[in-house]
Amino acid sequence: MHNHTLERVTNIRHWNDRLFSVTTTRPPGLRFESGHYVSLGLAAQDQLQARPHSVASATRDPYLEFLSHATPADTLGSRLQALRVGDPVLVGRQSGGTLRLSDLRPGKRLYLLATGSGVAPFLSIIRDPQAYEAFDTIVLVHCAREVSGLAYRHYITQALAGRQDWRARGALRYVPTVTREPFERQGRITTLIHSGELARELGLPPLNPEHDRAMVCGSKTVREALCAMLEGFGLRCRPEAGPPGDYVYERGTPAAARPAPAPRPPRRQAMPAGAAP
Ligand SMILES: Cc1cc2nc3c(=O)[nH]c(=O)nc-3n(C[C@H](O)[C@H](O)[C@H](O)COP(=O)(O)OP(=O)(O)OC[C@H]3O[C@@H](n4cnc5c(N)ncnc54)[C@H](O)[C@@H]3O)c2cc1C
Ligand SMILES: NC(=O)c1ccc[n+]([C@@H]2O[C@H](COP(=O)([O-])OP(=O)(O)OC[C@H]3O[C@@H](n4cnc5c(N)ncnc54)[C@H](OP(=O)(O)O)[C@@H]3O)[C@@H](O)[C@H]2O)c1
Repeated sequence: MHNHTLERVTNIRHWNDRLFSVTTTRPPGLRFESGHYVSLGLAAQDQLQARPHSVASATRDPYLEFLSHATPADTLGSRLQALRVGDPVLVGRQSGGTLRLSDLRPGKRLYLLATGSGVAPFLSIIRDPQAYEAFDTIVLVHCAREVSGLAYRHYITQALAGRQDWRARGALRYVPTVTREPFERQGRITTLIHSGELARELGLPPLNPEHDRAMVCGSKTVREALCAMLEGFGLRCRPEAGPPGDYVYERGTPAAARPAPAPRPPRRQAMPAGAAP
């Protein structure tokens, strides 16, 4: 637990019976870039139970905000869902991730493509003034199964877009979409893009590698589908270590942010030579 600091929950908001936001105090020394994640955890019988979570709050905010999803009983997601204001949480000392503005080649438009809780890192990016210095237009497409899964929808449409001093005014285009119940817009992101519906609605040309850049965040299946689609439009992914690319996705968890593995029980007897481990 030494690589985590003890923080407190200052707010919790449930969007539906699975999705919720947790706001915590911020470790004074924690630095992160918009799009980054940190390790978020709880102590469980003197053991650390922690998983990476994207920071949804802006880099300048004095607090940290996370968007999380409940998982089966006794897993971290279910324990986080039960948190109350004042409860302790553990926040990793290091941040990281591959959803960084600096990993994209210069372009005109930035497409942020998210499903479910995958919108979390983009909530930080759309509040980053540097994003609006780098791109003329930022298109945030958020796809959820149900309307209630469109977390922060009212915040994005009203508060953020309405702020007088905010560069996002006019530059941020928000496209919420739902797949399993009626809503003003329906369909998967892949469908909206392939059918040309997204481009038509926004009055923008189809995706092209000359001007368009993208970031992708969602489950593995969603990520693979969206990355294949972007490749089909000619956009090229930034290699794991290399120059900036046309699009990026979250590649995973470097050792620094991974929770320490549980100690293994001592072996009772030596394994016979040649035996399978
Ligand atoms: C770099 C990175 C950043 C992440 N950021 C976030 C984040 O901001 N918010 C967040 O909720 N999760 C995020 N995750 C996932 C998170 O780390 C854990 O998987 C989650 O906290 C559940 O942990 P668990 O131990 O309770 O269950 P796990 O054993 O990890 O998962 C149990 C089951 O729940 C599913 N599941 C896990 N997370 C989700 C989810 N978010 N939505 C739908 N199904 C899910 C898994 O596919 C699995 O079937 C991130 C993962 C990575 C690698
Ligand atoms: N930084 C990070 O890496 C980070 C941060 C936050 C979250 N996450 C990850 O984000 C994921 C969120 O879960 P989720 O995406 O499964 O959310 P979800 O809430 O289950 O949403 C899935 C949505 O995506 C659609 N979808 C499913 N398969 C698709 C495909 N192949 N192509 C296009 N759309 C598809 C679904 O449509 P249908 O209803 O038609 O199936 C549904 O609307 C989790 O795995 C979490 O770990 C990662």
